[in-house]
Amino acid sequence: MKIAILPGDGIGPEVTRQAVKILDVLAAEGLRFEREEALIGGCAYEATGHPLPDATLALARRADAILFGAEGGFQYETLPRGLRPGDALLAVRKQLDLYANYRPIVTFDALLDASPFKREWVQGLDILLIRELTSDLYFGEPRGIEMRDGLRVGTNTMYYDEREIARVAHTAFQTARRRHHKLCSVDKANVLEAMELWRTVVDEVAVGYPDVQLTHLYVDAAAMALVRDPRQFDVIVTGNLFGDILSDEASMLTGSLGMLPSASINAQGKGLFEPVHGCAPDIANQDIANPLASILSAAMMLRQGLNQPGAADRVEAAVRKVLADGLRTRDIAQPGTEIVGTEAMGDAVAAALRANAQ
Ligand code: IPM
Ligand code: MG
Repeated sequence: MKIAILPGDGIGPEVTRQAVKILDVLAAEGLRFEREEALIGGCAYEATGHPLPDATLALARRADAILFGAEGGFQYETLPRGLRPGDALLAVRKQLDLYANYRPIVTFDALLDASPFKREWVQGLDILLIRELTSDLYFGEPRGIEMRDGLRVGTNTMYYDEREIARVAHTAFQTARRRHHKLCSVDKANVLEAMELWRTVVDEVAVGYPDVQLTHLYVDAAAMALVRDPRQFDVIVTGNLFGDILSDEASMLTGSLGMLPSASINAQGKGLFEPVHGCAPDIANQDIANPLASILSAAMMLRQGLNQPGAADRVEAAVRKVLADGLRTRDIAQPGTEIVGTEAMGDAVAAALRANAQ
């Protein structure tokens, strides 16, 4: 097994280092894998003139799984399009056809008081948001900014073809079958033709899954339902743009964006695993970032990318253990807990993992 490690920018390298620490504990116990690191994002642009060097894309293609950190930084925001760090991540998603983005929204009992929501509304929350990741307004043509009749005009195109909708719908129904057999599809079919097709195709795919209870919500109603009664949801499937927005909203139910992992998988089962949080340049290199989303992304990689469900369960149990012991990074700190830095949190999870070896 070959793992590509792409730490990227901002807090990406320091949180990814903690996830690698965890993988190395498993390697010392006998899990066999090879890891290779490459530059992506702003650091790659500085070193090579491009945020996604050919060597990085080649490594991503070659690897069995990819562990990604974060990309970006204020200094890159005015670069021409195509050279910005975010473009590298979008290109990897598109080039590897990583169409199914899994974003679990799960609360940890030890962190219930870190959520801005009342504990009784979010306790036991377990939603899986599946976001389509390779189409929609993100990639639709035509796009651009141009002059028309003396006015600057910006254009993007919401595009979905039926094949793109059907494949992510199948993924979502199959996932719902392994959970509580409930799927909510989120669209804006009342206004947008691309979303009308989305709803039609999801309904067609549903015929093959009579055991899954399908509901539809418009995205505005879904945004409200997520905060009004989040526990009504099991699996949610939605397009690229709505999934981007709803996943940030849903992250707050759990108390911190610093806790959320994600997996982006293609039809061959190859995946890129990354924390949902971004590069957070304002707190980079101060040993205060929360590495748990990256560590939990490594757990998703073990389960979904490397077929090591036992190891994945143990990593997640180790994270729950350190939280139960009262260790917190600053973003999830509560009165009576002990604030630790990025490295110390990684060390604590590594120690808990060593201790829970079978
Ligand atoms: C995400 C991020 C990305 C996205 C950005 C960094 C391009 O917000 O993964 O949610 O919009 O998809
Ligand atoms: Mg986002």
